[in-house]
Amino acid sequence: MSQAADPVKVVKQEVGKAAADRVRSHSIVGLGTGSTTAYAVQFIGDRLKRGELEDVVGIPTSFQAEVLAKQYGIPLATLDAVERIDVAIDGADEVDPQKNLIKGGGAAHTREKVVDAAAESFVVVVDSGKLVSRLGESFLLPVEVIPMALAPVTRAIANLGGTAELRMGVKKAGPVITDQGNLVLDVKFDQIADPGELERALNNIPGVLENGLFVGVADIVLVGEIVDGQPRV
Ligand code: 5RP
Repeated sequence: MSQAADPVKVVKQEVGKAAADRVRSHSIVGLGTGSTTAYAVQFIGDRLKRGELEDVVGIPTSFQAEVLAKQYGIPLATLDAVERIDVAIDGADEVDPQKNLIKGGGAAHTREKVVDAAAESFVVVVDSGKLVSRLGESFLLPVEVIPMALAPVTRAIANLGGTAELRMGVKKAGPVITDQGNLVLDVKFDQIADPGELERALNNIPGVLENGLFVGVADIVLVGEIVDGQPRV
């Protein structure tokens, strides 16, 4: 018996493919993290294999992105080895009408911000369920914290009006540990009135490495949705 394809998965595939189609030969590509970007990585690999693309180098934003890129045959480099990133492709957890983002659902937002912000063009790949009128509406804000600073950072976040919860891993056996060996706090704010100001205020707390607000970083947002039963970007 055949099973109907999961519509969210189909949309993620389409939007990942649309982003991969934008990659040109002889380019350096930031490879984001998450299930949507994973399809973009797969399609870039397919295009390389078919000979449609040549001389593409990827800069991974996480261990996950590195493993996937290797699996799909994309040559990799580090930031010290390149002078520019032409395009970065990455997912998001929320996107507001100004193309500001919340990222970090996969605990990779610190490296993602380094790579995405360095790119000439940062292309965001999302399904329409990620679009919000105000950031923080449906997703908690991830904040990466150095472990020894967990208590003072939690108090400082409370002083900014946020309620922080330590992100736990599968089956709550222990906390999620980032690629940098740090912890993640998921923070609820009643409202995020000024994302840029909050981004700076959080990063100003000693012990915070980076938060998941990406303000003024995205250039293009590719949105996938189902229209009349068909996936569309
Ligand atoms: C990882 C991220 C991801 O890009 C974000 O969580 C979106 O992931 P997905 O495409 O699986 O919904 O920010 O830190």
